Amino acid sequence: MVYRGLGFFPVPGLGLVLLCVVLGAIRSYALELNLTDSEKATCLYAKWQMNFKIRYETTSNYYKTVTIADNGTAAYNGSICGDDHSGPKIAVQFGSSFSWSVNFTKEMTTYSIDSILFSYNTNDSTTFPEAKDKGIVTVYEPVAIKIPLNNAFRCKSLSALKKNDVVQQYWDILVQAFVQNGTVSTKEFLCDKDKTSTTVAPVIHTTVPSPTVTPTPKGKPEVGTYSVNNGNGTCLLATMGLQLNITQDKAVSVININPNTTDFTGSCHPQTALLKLNSSNINYLDFGFAVKNENRFYLKEVNVSVNLGNGSVFSFVNSNLSYWDAPLGSSYMCNKEQTVSVSGTFQINTFNLRVQPFNVMEGKYSTAQECSLDDDTILIPIIVGAGLSGLIIVIVIAYLIGRRKSYAGYQTL
Ligand SMILES: *[C@@H]1O[C@H](CO)[C@@H](O)[C@H](O)[C@H]1NC(C)=O
Ligand SMILES: *[C@@H]1O[C@H](CO)[C@@H](O)[C@H](O)[C@H]1NC(C)=O
Ligand SMILES: *[C@@H]1O[C@H](CO)[C@@H](O)[C@H](O)[C@H]1NC(C)=O
Ligand SMILES: *[C@@H]1O[C@H](CO)[C@@H](O)[C@H](O)[C@H]1NC(C)=O
Ligand SMILES: *[C@@H]1O[C@H](CO)[C@@H](O)[C@H](O)[C@H]1NC(C)=O
Repeated sequence: MVYRGLGFFPVPGLGLVLLCVVLGAIRSYALELNLTDSEKATCLYAKWQMNFKIRYETTSNYYKTVTIADNGTAAYNGSICGDDHSGPKIAVQFGSSFSWSVNFTKEMTTYSIDSILFSYNTNDSTTFPEAKDKGIVTVYEPVAIKIPLNNAFRCKSLSALKKNDVVQQYWDILVQAFVQNGTVSTKEFLCDKDKTSTTVAPVIHTTVPSPTVTPTPKGKPEVGTYSVNNGNGTCLLATMGLQLNITQDKAVSVININPNTTDFTGSCHPQTALLKLNSSNINYLDFGFAVKNENRFYLKEVNVSVNLGNGSVFSFVNSNLSYWDAPLGSSYMCNKEQTVSVSGTFQINTFNLRVQPFNVMEGKYSTAQECSLDDDTILIPIIVGAGLSGLIIVIVIAYLIGRRKSYAGYQTL
């Protein structure tokens, strides 16, 4: 199965690159904690990376997914070496609405990573704009990984824990609890995923789309809302129904993007912004925005890689586009179907589009600049205007003819 999954990558190693892109896109910093006891000897050491994908329902009755990572601001208050009453524990707080902890228990010859507790607060409207249910949500995950005493546990591979609306991802883990004599052990106990490979590669099959996915064209795509959070709140917002139209080898594939199964991430900078989508059959669909003339934004780039089934992948990038142009500080809106022509063989049809890649305030859209397609009212003045000018022309012609006649009349005299 894994080999079938890998087989579709045209270039060996592309899978790995893709994986790096996937992980790289999620801004995450390594967390590190060296906890010492009253004698200043290390009792617990941990270094790891983690992030959380949280799905929540909005007041507009659709689901949004946000990816949360500590952005280098983690505090470790509440972390303890453990004593007679309680075992060692790592407690992490990041942002104002997230807390995470893991605890350890000791047996005769082993110790265990016991369980993980993660909680988030949907009252945080910068991270969870328009959340329907507000309050603290806590997710408990029994982990129960047994490790020989005086061994450090290492797991470079990605581990994902999925429960309810939360997917917790962990990778690059090195941890030891019950450290003896203040020295982290050089003996390492590897997780199963690391044992079966020498690289991070085994994770690939989780990100590789199943080759059996055949895109089936259907009516209008469902409208999804995608956002990017830069740690200071939402910095990019996009709401749209997306339909890809790809012509390859004379065959046309029309693919509707299903927002329910599409992950998104991205980045925001002063002059550029990026929204990255991916799903089982979309390896990536990136929208790159830029600022021009210091006062307008536009869609500058589309970079896509789609698995068309039957083992073929369509990839294309165009960095010279000019769509969705609107003043900075506003959003661009187009309710009618609109087409972004990325190339002669690839176009994106958008439905109920609204996008704001810069200057998002409080997680909400600013005033919209609407596309000309939307504006039916503009037709009325045009028709009226055309009618009026037509009338004026008729009058002028009639007047000129009249004058000519009378002039001609004089001449014959
Ligand atoms: C952690 O502890 C430090 C020092 O005691 C304190 O300044 C900080 O506010 C605490 N952070 C959290 C998230 O509780
Ligand atoms: C810590 O371990 C105890 C069992 O000893 C368990 O009941 C508790 O939920 C754990 N706490 C966390 C934060 O994982
Ligand atoms: C810790 O120190 C004690 C006494 O010095 C020694 O017997 C023991 O082997 C040491 N353990 C480790 C894991 O180094
Ligand atoms: C897809 O693209 C082809 C070729 O450009 C075009 O003929 C067809 O109408 C398009 N279909 C849709 C649904 O956009
Ligand atoms: C997406 O999820 C919503 C709410 O759960 C559901 O109503 C809708 O049918 C789903 N759409 C697709 C295409 O799966």
